[in-house]
Amino acid sequence: MVSAGDAKMKGLIERAKEVLNRNWRGSYTVPSATLYPHQWSWDSGFIAIGYSHYNQERAQKELISLFKGQWKNGMLPHILFNPEEKGYFPGPELWQIELSKYAPKGVLTSGITQPPVHAKAALYIYENGRDREGALRFLREIFPKLLAFHRYLYRERNPFNEGLVYIRHPWESGMDNSPVWDLPLKGITVPAELLPSYRRKDLQHVPISERPTDEEYDRFLYLLHIFKECDYNESKIFKESPFIIQGNLFNAILHSSNKALYQIAELLKEDTEEIGSWIDKTGEAFNQKLWDEEDGFYYVFDMKQKKHIKACTAAGFVPLFGGLPSKEQAEKLYKTLNKECFCRIHSNCFAVPNYDVCEEGFSPENYWRGPIWINMNWLIYKGLKDYGNLEYATYVKNSIIELVRMGGFYEYYDPFTGKGHGTKDFSWTAALLIDVLME
Ligand code: GLC
Repeated sequence: MVSAGDAKMKGLIERAKEVLNRNWRGSYTVPSATLYPHQWSWDSGFIAIGYSHYNQERAQKELISLFKGQWKNGMLPHILFNPEEKGYFPGPELWQIELSKYAPKGVLTSGITQPPVHAKAALYIYENGRDREGALRFLREIFPKLLAFHRYLYRERNPFNEGLVYIRHPWESGMDNSPVWDLPLKGITVPAELLPSYRRKDLQHVPISERPTDEEYDRFLYLLHIFKECDYNESKIFKESPFIIQGNLFNAILHSSNKALYQIAELLKEDTEEIGSWIDKTGEAFNQKLWDEEDGFYYVFDMKQKKHIKACTAAGFVPLFGGLPSKEQAEKLYKTLNKECFCRIHSNCFAVPNYDVCEEGFSPENYWRGPIWINMNWLIYKGLKDYGNLEYATYVKNSIIELVRMGGFYEYYDPFTGKGHGTKDFSWTAALLIDVLME
């Protein structure tokens, strides 16, 4: 007999699939039909993980479509533009990727990347796939592309060969206006004459109280101007740009994807040596450079200022997903996670807010400045589960289910009220809910 609870969950899965159906465009899925009408990189990784449970073909197509935008140097851009779609800013005319000799021909993309969750997604597709033969063929096709992407990161974004990759734009972190970027962004003076006159389109869909400020946008666009001045040459950008950060989220996801890539290489009987060396190097450097023993927390490292940026965001827990902390380090992370200010178990708010709610600058409804994001919860949930912290893992998982059940498929949620904000019918919220209910 199916219990009432099971039936409710089945209903929720069906609704999640409907969201993905509405956002499916034939070979990929838009994150949101209104606010984000193109293909986004890490979104597609998460979305493919959702599809892997019930539609292997779509999951595979999602990643294959994304890699059509891969640059000749291996970079996987954060957006692949649909040329028909004019409702998004900044569009391809602002990126001018033809300035780079590595830009792909005949495809419109942005000129920055996003967290490399894709190898992990590819492994999910194989593991959940009903058609194993088809999945192996897919892995064979995608493996060289994944490898080229990771090689690009270690070659072009790892200037001192430390094993930690840097990002050069807040959008590359995936957490656009996180409080962690306040300091480096404040340090940037934007020469007014260099800024194009522009009109944001995001504000047609979502109120400004839930989105980045205009001052932040000016800086986002100024960085883009620098990239073009450098013709997207990475070593020039490294010298010229004021924003060069070794991220905790980015490198934790990279580490986890390296391990997935290693497994894929083994399945395909490919050489694993290079991937193995990345795993060793990043694992060590991550704990040496991004860990703060006193605070018991992982921070990002600002390569221009040569110091940690000490903002406690949910990204600091994601190393659990990469299997990076030792047992002792993990215990310290649990302590922080179980603080009142991170909405501990039995508190009056939902876990896990994206920023410490007791900090000045926390906002319950503004984008990456405090609300709960389902992908962050998902990464933390999987990490806790891998570490055997089942009580807390279940707490975070239930928060994913409860927020969506109460509020619908929103982009982010107020940790105190559970109210959804940003765009609705958001794809990765739907996809990752499917994963936690079907795993
Ligand atoms: C926003 C998010 C970013 C996401 C994109 C598409 O820019 O900050 O992480 O990839 O929307 O959903």
